[in-house]
Amino acid sequence: MSAGIFDRTPQTVEHIETAYRRISTQIPAPGTDDLLTILDANESRSMHGQMPIVWDRAHDFSIYDRAGNRWIDFTSTIFVANTGHGNRAVRNAVREVLDKGMMHSYAYASEIRASYLERLIEFAPAPVEKAMLFSSGTEAVEAAFKLMRMQGQKTGKERLGVVCLEGNYHGRTMAAQMLGGGDDQRIWMGKQDPDIHRIGFPFAWELGDKSGANFFRDSISSLEKGGIHAKKDICGLLLEGYQGWNAAFYPTDYVQAAAEWCQENNILLAFDEIQSGFGRTGKKFCFEHYNVKPDLFCCGKGMGSGIALSGVLGRADIMDLPDVGNMSSTNSANPMACAAGLATIKEIERLNLVAESVRKGRILRRELMKLQSESGGRISRFSARGLVAALIFDDVKCGGSAADFADKVCLKALESGLLVVRTGRESIKIGPPLTIADEALEEGLSVLGSAIADVSWGTGF
Ligand SMILES: Cc1ncc(COP(=O)(O)O)c(C=O)c1O
Repeated sequence: MSAGIFDRTPQTVEHIETAYRRISTQIPAPGTDDLLTILDANESRSMHGQMPIVWDRAHDFSIYDRAGNRWIDFTSTIFVANTGHGNRAVRNAVREVLDKGMMHSYAYASEIRASYLERLIEFAPAPVEKAMLFSSGTEAVEAAFKLMRMQGQKTGKERLGVVCLEGNYHGRTMAAQMLGGGDDQRIWMGKQDPDIHRIGFPFAWELGDKSGANFFRDSISSLEKGGIHAKKDICGLLLEGYQGWNAAFYPTDYVQAAAEWCQENNILLAFDEIQSGFGRTGKKFCFEHYNVKPDLFCCGKGMGSGIALSGVLGRADIMDLPDVGNMSSTNSANPMACAAGLATIKEIERLNLVAESVRKGRILRRELMKLQSESGGRISRFSARGLVAALIFDDVKCGGSAADFADKVCLKALESGLLVVRTGRESIKIGPPLTIADEALEEGLSVLGSAIADVSWGTGF
């Protein structure tokens, strides 16, 4: 099962019928292999390796296949369906646009684009004044990178250095990947950009008895010792809201020291809120946990509830740096995306999803503490805030490969009617729609606990 390839032979599993789950066939369900084989034959390998399930229908926090099996969804696909799968208000808003036949309007003005941008700016915390819209998260990061460097040129920096954090993730296009990921993910680029500087992530075990603020300052001192001077050589700092694969949050004083450093040295502070925004962590945007006001930030995923929508938001002086037409794309502000984005904000407000994320987050944390204490050390730690969490497994306690163990838990959960986020590493992530019913959240966590126990005891780990 290594390298993310799951066995596709249907296995007889326990039949399940609860208020939120139904497993009534073998798993993978008959026909899954046939369909995956068509995908394997016709689609790039880069899309392979997913769990052996074929989605047919989705509603709120439930996923269904054609055979009628039903799963509790702890993934929101990949932190997208914050307002619930197929949210009715979002669908109706998109349908209204479709019924007018206006699937696209390029950069010509439309009422929906004006209404959405006005509402988006109101929704975002001050000092956001303007936005630019795109389709994917990675595109938004490219745009933020360009804005940071344009600002550096405008303010007369000698070099256009951008500081980012080791292990953070920002997407798969050139600048986004230069700013994130591990070394192995950057090999394809050949020559590396000498003006991208990576500093270490402030994990608790890296901090030791250092404060977050001192940890940040020490990282910057190391850069300075290497001949990179903040005032003249750095124009931007990019932080992911939390580090993705393990949902690791920063110490607040780390981010505050970073914000002060940016201010003192005329450096733009940018946040990547693509995964962490739109209520996921119990705030509208994750940077609010750290009490800082970034100059600009990137959004995507939950922004459009599943319709491709991303954007960069920030102060007007930054957002207006590019000349007319210099930072648009064919699908920027697509009317369907604007309709979905507007309906998403209205749904977040109508359903109180930010407060719900906090309230349900307490249930999540409480149950994860139990899971950890019952895991015999296999869960070495977990991180949770709002409705995102990551469980980190321990190699030794898991019998050698925590990543294999995590994969087995994902598969066992799938067989039991629960979908969790597979990371391909030693973690499992949880990110249900913010609309999930309390009982479904509790039921899913209990299924996850059983899956961990089954893998621990049933398969020799
Ligand atoms: C924090 C973060 N930034 C950027 C991206 C890239 O977004 P996209 O996949 O829409 O290009 C992701 C996607 O997983 C993400 O989690």
